Amino acid sequence: MPLFWRDRDLQWRALCRSSGSYLKLASLVRRRHSAEMRIALFEPEIAGNVGAVLRLGACLGAAVDLIEPMGFKWDDRRVRRTAMDYIDHVTIARHRGFDAFRTAVGSRRLVLFTTKSGQSAYDFAFRADDVLLFGKESAGVPPAIAEVCDARVRIPMRSQVRSMNLATSAALALGEALRQTATLPS
Ligand SMILES: C[S@@+](CC[C@H](N)C(=O)[O-])C[C@H]1O[C@@H](n2cnc3c(N)ncnc32)[C@H](O)[C@@H]1O
Repeated sequence: MPLFWRDRDLQWRALCRSSGSYLKLASLVRRRHSAEMRIALFEPEIAGNVGAVLRLGACLGAAVDLIEPMGFKWDDRRVRRTAMDYIDHVTIARHRGFDAFRTAVGSRRLVLFTTKSGQSAYDFAFRADDVLLFGKESAGVPPAIAEVCDARVRIPMRSQVRSMNLATSAALALGEALRQTATLPS
């Protein structure tokens, strides 16, 4: 394992041991304003998608919440290959499950992106501290989780196709949410 990643893994494990619940790579990430937009991935299955979303968060300025279990090991090479050094510029929080995630994000709104909603994301009024939640690649989120979200929105698509790639939908969603809230980087 390259030194960079080994160090990161060691710090990660130390944090997990000391906090009891998974939390962010505090010493490795840039400190950000607490009101920043967040992207949350529910039980992501494909390492390359997570890497792409981490890179997106680094480029546009959004923290990323990873809700476990994930379909791959955190130190999977595909995450590193896709996120590359951009991983240094994104705040990452891992959560043991949805309940731990919900507690960690507190009173922020959870806005679920789902193909099952009739509400267009382009007609929805985002807030600068919203958490944009995305489902797993194979099945989205269970109905019980969709119900507890504060809003459910859809990115309009042509009717003959089922869904977008997870990272692609996150990019469109975050771009629109940041644009609306005037929080796009310059
Ligand atoms: C590959 S899709 C999941 C498809 C899954 N079969 C389903 O029924 O939800 C992964 C995630 O990307 C997001 N997504 C993909 N296309 C979307 C769209 N048009 N509108 C909103 N979210 C979308 C959703 O969060 C979805 O759970």
